Amino acid sequence: SRQWKGVLREYADRLDISEATPIITLGEGGTPLIPARYLSERTGAKVFVKYEGMNPTGSFKDRGMTMAISKAVEHGAKAVICASTGNTSASAAAYATHAGITAAVLVPDGKIAMGKLSQAVAHKAELIQIQGNFDDCLDIARDLAANYPVHLVNSVNPDRIEGQKTAAFEVVEVLEDAPDFHIVPVGNAGNYTAYHRGYREELERGTTTKMPRMLGFQAAGSAPIVLGEPVKHPETIASAIRIGNPASWELALTARDDSRGYFGAIDDAGILEAHRLLSREVGIFVEPASAISVAGLLERAEAGAIPAGSTVVLTVTGHGLKDPQWALKGPDGVDVQPTVVGVDTAEVASVLGLQ
Ligand code: F0G
Repeated sequence: SRQWKGVLREYADRLDISEATPIITLGEGGTPLIPARYLSERTGAKVFVKYEGMNPTGSFKDRGMTMAISKAVEHGAKAVICASTGNTSASAAAYATHAGITAAVLVPDGKIAMGKLSQAVAHKAELIQIQGNFDDCLDIARDLAANYPVHLVNSVNPDRIEGQKTAAFEVVEVLEDAPDFHIVPVGNAGNYTAYHRGYREELERGTTTKMPRMLGFQAAGSAPIVLGEPVKHPETIASAIRIGNPASWELALTARDDSRGYFGAIDDAGILEAHRLLSREVGIFVEPASAISVAGLLERAEAGAIPAGSTVVLTVTGHGLKDPQWALKGPDGVDVQPTVVGVDTAEVASVLGLQ
């Protein structure tokens, strides 16, 4: 039997690790690349969804965290710290406890999804809710890492981006080339940068024939890269990407230029509409921030920017169970009411319209 060994072992030859690096893994990576018939028919492109919710803690962060925590332990760290909109904290908490070290996580008070909060608590992180937004949390985490014996595991730590680039390797293995377009949600723009790096390395190794155009989407109320300036009070229901001053902004602009890429913004209604489509028509359940990739595809296709027959990969970054409340709202924003009936087959048949 063949068990996937996690991204550090699977891609050891393409990551900066050595015999001295302890491999702290929960088996991350190896996530499915799912052909999406509905989205292909709707856009005329060949659309695939990279379902990163299938990672051990339910988001793509695990690819970077296995690398960041392994390197931190190699360098003798006993404690790590991060700022987070939720997923990074869940991942840091799980990998730190697996390694036998402690994690401290700083999250914006009241602004992270319940599933993610539960994960950080379950994995016994030191959880601190800051009365500010993500950008404030990151400022404090950086200050602490500069002045105290704690190791920063946000994506400003280059090990994170290195680990995350492995997702591009997996796409190339399945498609046997790079896609024409790759679409990702953007918060700090670390993942956008990581995919670009992975594809650039593949091109240089000669395993692919092209650099995909990297398309990144931000929530309209939190779209500093699109606006060209930081957003002081970022807002969006997609709490994972409620970020006003992206840490990897400069790197992302370089990646955009190198790939002839693009950054766009989608409003919350568009995000929720895409969330419904992906759940109802494709069968993939994600958190709202992830659905922005689908919204971005539809927006670009309608703008005529995706030629017919193009291969498009959408990364959906986090699992729907992290933040399930949005699924319970109908298109009108009203909570869906489940139908309750007695213990009676005929009554159930009648409710289902069976004759
Ligand atoms: N999607 C999800 C589900 C995320 O959690 C994040 C980032 C992103 C997309 C954006 O990725 O920051 O690399 O551009 N979440 C971070 C966190 C900020 O703290 O969990 P990015």
